[in-house]
Amino acid sequence: MATQDPQAAQPFTINPLTEALGAEIIGLDLTQPLSDATFTALERAFHQYHVICFRDQVLDEEAHLAFTRHWGELEIFPEEDKTKSAKTFYNVANTSVEGEHLPEDDPKVLFQKVNARWHTDSSYRYIPSFASLMYSTEVLPDEAKGGETEFSNMLAAYDALSDADKRRFEPLHMVHHYEFGRRLFPALPPITAFERNAVPPVSHPLVRVHPDRDYRRSLFFTVNAGNEVSGMALEEGQALLKWLDEYASRPEFTYSHRWRENDLVMWDNRVLLHRATRYDMARYRRAFRRTTVAGSGPALGPFSLAVRDALANDQ
Ligand SMILES: [Fe+2]
Repeated sequence: MATQDPQAAQPFTINPLTEALGAEIIGLDLTQPLSDATFTALERAFHQYHVICFRDQVLDEEAHLAFTRHWGELEIFPEEDKTKSAKTFYNVANTSVEGEHLPEDDPKVLFQKVNARWHTDSSYRYIPSFASLMYSTEVLPDEAKGGETEFSNMLAAYDALSDADKRRFEPLHMVHHYEFGRRLFPALPPITAFERNAVPPVSHPLVRVHPDRDYRRSLFFTVNAGNEVSGMALEEGQALLKWLDEYASRPEFTYSHRWRENDLVMWDNRVLLHRATRYDMARYRRAFRRTTVAGSGPALGPFSLAVRDALANDQ
C-alpha cells in the first residue's frame, strides 16, 4: 500500500513493488538538498525494501556522486579498461562515452555478459560493498525483450531453507575471485597485473549475519566471481553453487526491474543478488552509469558470532 512520508521536507510517496522486495519513490527531486528527516525516511525505506527506485530523476555525474556520498564512501573500480568514465563511475552500456553504439564483440559490451549471472557487486573484495546506485540514461523501447535487472532477496532465501540445509551451510565459505568472472569469457581482455594485485581471491561466509538486523541471516554467494566452496571438494562445491543458482531464481524471492529512462535504482549488496537479463545488443542501445558505496567491514558469518558469544561468556 502506498504511504506518504509525513515528516519529509520534500513530500514523496513510497510504493512497494512486489512482496519479495523493491519500492519506487515518487515525487522526490534528488538534485535538491535533502533534509535529515527525508534522508532518515529514505534509510528506513532502503532497510525495508532493499531496492529503492527513484523515478524521473535528471542527474548529471556531479548530482549522482553527491547523492551517493550521503550513504558513505565511494568505491574505486579495479578495472584498467575503458568501462569507466571516472574512477568512481562504472558504465553499464553498449555505447561509448562519446555516445556511439558499440559492436557486440567490443570488450565494454562483453563485460556486461558476466553480469548475466547472479552476483553482488564487489563481493570479490575483502570488504564487500554496501550498495550500488545505477542511473539510466538510455533504456530499451517497450516492445524490446529483456534488458531488465533481476534482484533476489537472500534474507528470504535463507529463511526458506530446510533446517538440514541451514546446518549444512553454516560452516561453509565461498571463494570470491574477480579473475574467475573474467575467465568465463575468453574474448575479454586478459587480466592485468594491476587488476590481479588489486583484487586477489577472498573467502566470505556462505551464511552472512547482519548486525543491523538483529543478526538475521542471509545467503551470500556469487555465480560470476565464484567457483569454489572452501571446505568442499571442487566438484562438490560446484554442484552446490549450481543448486544455489537455481534456488536464487525462485519467483518468490525475486523482483525484475524494467528500466524507465531517468530511474535511479539503489540496491543493497549485502542482502541481495542481482543479474542482468539479456537483450538484443546489436539492435538496441542501453546506457546506465553506476556508483558503488563501500562496505563498513568484512562479511560476518555465524562463526564470528560464536566467537563473540564465547568471549561474552568468559567475562
Ligand atoms: Fe552488478
